[in-house]
Amino acid sequence: MKHFLTLDDITHFQDAVAEAQALKKNPFANENLGRHKTLGMLFFNPSLRTRLSTQKAAQHLGIHTMVMNFSNEAWALEFENGTKMNGLRSEHIKEAAAVVSKYCDMVAIRAFASLNDKVKDEGEEVLNKFAEYASIPVINMESATAHPLQAFADAITIKEHSTKKRPKIVLTWAPHPKALPHAVANSFVRMVKNLEADFVIAQPEGYQLNAAITGNTPLVYNQEEALEGADFVYAKNWCSYTEYGKILRTDDEWMLTSEKMKHTNDAMFMHCLPVRRNIVVADGVLDHPNSLVIEQANNRTYAAQWVLKKLLQNG
Ligand code: CP
Repeated sequence: MKHFLTLDDITHFQDAVAEAQALKKNPFANENLGRHKTLGMLFFNPSLRTRLSTQKAAQHLGIHTMVMNFSNEAWALEFENGTKMNGLRSEHIKEAAAVVSKYCDMVAIRAFASLNDKVKDEGEEVLNKFAEYASIPVINMESATAHPLQAFADAITIKEHSTKKRPKIVLTWAPHPKALPHAVANSFVRMVKNLEADFVIAQPEGYQLNAAITGNTPLVYNQEEALEGADFVYAKNWCSYTEYGKILRTDDEWMLTSEKMKHTNDAMFMHCLPVRRNIVVADGVLDHPNSLVIEQANNRTYAAQWVLKKLLQNG
């Protein structure tokens, strides 16, 4: 593994999940592996879980971390080649990535979708240009279209709580007052393809994800029908993909409630967090013993630790 940009960078996914579970049992087993190594963490967007869990993962491996809020502490970056830089952007990605590569042994980047320009977002400019111009491994801490560390942690959580060989997993769209990116949903869909599961996406009309990612996953437009017999319910909002960046509905008909969870097979509830209570999901679901949201956040550490360890071992 040269970089960790998407889940496809993990070649043997089931093995990776098992290894991450082993790291969880014995987090300091490789505490000297990262001695004298530095991880740079560059944030173009806010974070709680990703920032702290990745730092904690690094600590477990003896890696030093340097964290920078790039959106308001660094020089604004230019990504185009050949431009006359007479505007607001003071530093070119070529120099920025090369310089970061001198201070760090690995760099992790968070850069969300703009939701203004689908083509540009899907081009993953920030992540891919860092990967192009840095001479060190690049780690995706949520990009425009993918959140592989979250999906990896979600896989660990499902494995830990699955009582069936082939559980039914439902990814359900849920309301939100802001337009949110597709990254978490995209990576969750990609991740579930690596599991033995019956997988359904529940969503209102107009909220189909990128068909290139969902493929032949069944889409159900009736939430309660989709929830029938579910063992895991993952709620997430995303904005419209076809009417890119738009919010098509503002009602609370798709909020996940305790009443709706009665359709399931006493399902476990999942969400990546942060979550807006009583908008996305009702208090009763979040506060129920079947809610796995805190354990998902906990498993972010071991997903990140697996990635850091692999990159260190690959030299
Ligand atoms: N789930 C997740 O990535 O959380 P943060 O945005 O707080 O990092």
